[in-house]
Amino acid sequence: MSESHVWDEVDAYFSERLAPDDEVLAAALRDSDAAGLPRIAVSPNQGKLLQLLAQIQGARHILEIGTLGGYSTIWLGRALPADGRLVSLEYDPRHAEVAAGNLARAGLAERVEVRVGAALESLPALAAENPPPFDLVFIDADKGNNPRYVEWAVELAGPGALIVLDNVVRGGRVTDADSTAPDVAGTRAAIELIGSHPRLSGTAIQTVGAKGYDGFALARVLP
Ligand code: SAH
Ligand code: DHB
Ligand code: MG
Repeated sequence: MSESHVWDEVDAYFSERLAPDDEVLAAALRDSDAAGLPRIAVSPNQGKLLQLLAQIQGARHILEIGTLGGYSTIWLGRALPADGRLVSLEYDPRHAEVAAGNLARAGLAERVEVRVGAALESLPALAAENPPPFDLVFIDADKGNNPRYVEWAVELAGPGALIVLDNVVRGGRVTDADSTAPDVAGTRAAIELIGSHPRLSGTAIQTVGAKGYDGFALARVLP
């Protein structure tokens, strides 16, 4: 276990009051742990932020890249109206199976579809189906492909859509221009793409809390 920080207590204080656990979310994390999945899901407060962003968007179609055990998927799925749809892309069939159980228990099996495979293969297949434009895209998979995922998000998004890119700080490593680590290089390329893209307006926010020092980027697809 890593050392404890004052921000762990603050994060717990906020989440107990603003993003409280329920049996479905707790069980999703329990089953993810039991199956040996890495403990890298979004925190409760981050999950609640995703849910609020989806609601603010009035999102009816959500795309997630990187399902893991479906914890963030549940937060996002709960923001959908009854006729809304969420597609979540996951490389690891074991993760997808755990997620399917967690989403079924959450009552979201009808609205959420987990597609197994490398996202860079699933995305063109999805595009070929001419899906309704996505209102929110949450990118949270292999960070080395972040620039590709941002490009696909723009391609599949509707006007005014919101792109959320997780883990853009990684303890500050994002400023290391010489890094050959794929997560750092991929995230830097994605940030530069957002900054220079004619159809995107974005920002990035640093965070501390249950997941240490990290952050997320937000980008709006211009109408
Ligand atoms: N969004 C989840 C956490 C996702 S962790 C949550 O917050 O609850 C990142 C996930 O991306 C892992 O499950 C990993 O298997 C998946 N992943 C890694 N490479 C991928 C790829 N090329 N395509 C799709 N998913 C990938
Ligand atoms: C890692 C991945 C994540 O999506 C995350 O939120 C935290 C950590 C990781 O691969 O270490
Ligand atoms: Mg993440």
